[in-house]
Amino acid sequence: MSGEGVEVPTPGVENLSVAEGNDDFVDPWNVQSSSTAGRFGSQKIDDELINRIEKVTGKPVHHLLRRGIFFSQRDMHQILNLYEQKKPFFLYTGRGPSSDSMHLGHLIPFIFTKWLQETFDVPLVIQLTDDEKFLWKDLAIEEANRLAYLNARDIIALGFDVNKTFIFSDMEYIGSCKEFYMNMCRVQKLVTFNQVKGIFGFGDSDCIGKISFPAIQAAPSFSSSFPLIFNGRKDVPCLIPCAIDQDPYFRMTRDVAPRMNMPKPALLHSTFFPALQGVQSKMSASDPNSSIFLTDTDKQIKNKVNKYAFSGGGATVEEHKEKGGNCDVDVSYQYLTFFLEDDERLAQIKKDYTSGELLTGYLKKELIEILQKIVTQHRENRLKVTDDIVKQFMTPRKLNFQY
Ligand code: TYM
Repeated sequence: MSGEGVEVPTPGVENLSVAEGNDDFVDPWNVQSSSTAGRFGSQKIDDELINRIEKVTGKPVHHLLRRGIFFSQRDMHQILNLYEQKKPFFLYTGRGPSSDSMHLGHLIPFIFTKWLQETFDVPLVIQLTDDEKFLWKDLAIEEANRLAYLNARDIIALGFDVNKTFIFSDMEYIGSCKEFYMNMCRVQKLVTFNQVKGIFGFGDSDCIGKISFPAIQAAPSFSSSFPLIFNGRKDVPCLIPCAIDQDPYFRMTRDVAPRMNMPKPALLHSTFFPALQGVQSKMSASDPNSSIFLTDTDKQIKNKVNKYAFSGGGATVEEHKEKGGNCDVDVSYQYLTFFLEDDERLAQIKKDYTSGELLTGYLKKELIEILQKIVTQHRENRLKVTDDIVKQFMTPRKLNFQY
């Protein structure tokens, strides 16, 4: 969901509307600095939380957390309490398979989820909403299901542990798991049409599939939706890493959870990885020049960055040297904050670019090399993901955890 609705007060339900008043548009770039963390009951990820994560896990946090790219959270302290008390929780995230290839932005939550899984050593469930994309896009139902498998390959290529991870297509899993469907029905019974209209901006001419879809994205937040993994337990809490655009689904889920006698999911939200054209424009799978895709060749990456990456540098070399570059709007610099792990190098680049010493061409060159490396590595990893491996990840089964 793109978060493009309007704010509609929803009687009887707290904090459920999508945050878009005229002056408070929640585009994931504004959310970072605006009042959004807080406005819907989510909290800013502050130094105290980061220090606590480092303390309880005994290791430095991931750079996506350290740099404020994951910037907002719900109930993360409760998750840390569980971890300290050696009580279980699980991770849940997802992908709406709408295109053959994912772009770099889609990788962000998965890269971070992998770090969370390795750090906390907990089960992970990944929902592929082929049903959602069939309902929203001009896609045949078989095609949506096929894309789920293709995208699963991209996700697996990041290196998830098959013994700890279950990936499922809605079309396949829901029909096979009574408990999942029961949770969907429970949610459907507790949320009114008026409420989903308020949250998602649905109108009278939206198909009824869309109207009931939020219950499908809510259901994996509950451990009882995975009886094989959690041995029938319905009380194992869940932590959901995702970008901020998915929050409306989980505000709704958190609202109904207590009435289902189930724990509310906790959340970690990231900002949006920007389009090459700049933080104000949107990345779109239908515009190949708006982003870098995992299927791009080295040459395409180089051309796209050189040609389209919005620059915060001066108009001429002289002007740049005199006034310096603006990292806040420079897309190449922004991309480096997501993908360049070395803090010192990043700080040096920022200093030199801001002072005007480092020219845009050099900044872009550094980024191109990093992205080419990431995409090449990913391509090689994906080639190693056989049909059999995909099948293993997508087979409902017990994972390596005892409940
Ligand atoms: P989808 O396929 O639109 O996006 C997959 C994941 O990537 C995040 N994301 C981004 N993150 C950073 N920068 C971007 N430019 C960017 N674009 C997308 C999304 O927030 C998401 O985490 N309905 C969902 C699928 C889903 C899901 C979930 C996602 C089902 N259950 C639970 C997260 C958690 C969707 O269409 O995501």
